[in-house]
Amino acid sequence: MKGLAALPRIIIDTDPGVDDAIAILMALAAPTVDVAGLTVVGGNVSHARALRNARALLEYVGKSDIPVHRGSSRPLTGKFASARNFHGGSGLTRRLPKPTADIPPQGAVDFLAEQLSANPGEVTLVSIGPLTNLARLERQYPGSLAQAASLVIMGGAVDSPGNIRPQAEFNFYCDPLAAREVMTTGLPMTLVDLAACRQVAMSREMANSLKSRNRLGLLALQIIQNWFKADESRESMLFYDQIAMASAICPAVMTTRQVTVEVEAEGPEAGVSRAAPGGGPVALADKVDSEGLLALTGQWLGWEAA
Ligand code: RIB
Ligand code: CA
Repeated sequence: MKGLAALPRIIIDTDPGVDDAIAILMALAAPTVDVAGLTVVGGNVSHARALRNARALLEYVGKSDIPVHRGSSRPLTGKFASARNFHGGSGLTRRLPKPTADIPPQGAVDFLAEQLSANPGEVTLVSIGPLTNLARLERQYPGSLAQAASLVIMGGAVDSPGNIRPQAEFNFYCDPLAAREVMTTGLPMTLVDLAACRQVAMSREMANSLKSRNRLGLLALQIIQNWFKADESRESMLFYDQIAMASAICPAVMTTRQVTVEVEAEGPEAGVSRAAPGGGPVALADKVDSEGLLALTGQWLGWEAA
């Protein structure tokens, strides 16, 4: 609780991951929300590594009071792909001290079910990794997702080019069956897909022109600056999970259009997502205010000209 009054709470389902880490730091820094917990899923890196990264990130910035719950190490069927090429072997571009806080025995699905049922309509669920934990939640506790105040998901490449396959986006591709099950619940949700993500990028020059006087903002900058250092050919970093997080905290950063999203669950088009004709329950990101989003991110993280 940042101020005196209780703030809206969010739970982040994540596979950290460089952009996940920035998104988590944004949520920790934003003055208008409280992070009630993280639930971890394999994806960018193994579940074990993602769990370590999530715990290490929170402890490094003095937030070890926020619980990090174990989640799915495998998709509903098959096994996870990985995105080491983008995130590096460890999944983060900055070494962090080994986490020491205890890991809660309660798993991600039980934690999500408990939090959502105990606080119906009060907790926003931000999903920035493969959707396995959310699909398992709905299978084991039907109706849980409907108890969220809102669902904000980074995933898919709706009728647009993919990033892990020609037409498939990584999170949906990692667990296409989970993506289909979540996207076809009929629930209202916000989806930030690759078409939105391609509207926001931070250049190497911008990243290197910034500094921050606070721990959260400085760590975020170090992670970004090291990402550029890791490969001299990198000229800009697309914001993926950061857009989902920014829109969960401040929906005004983008416009949306109502669609029904279909996801191929298997076969050569596994993970491919399309919008069915007509409207639907999914608010798909349309136009993203890139300048406003970067300014808001910098404001939360205390970024200033170096
Ligand atoms: O396709 C981008 C998504 O895949 C992001 O969530 C990124 O962290 C990776 O998980
Ligand atoms: Ca992610």
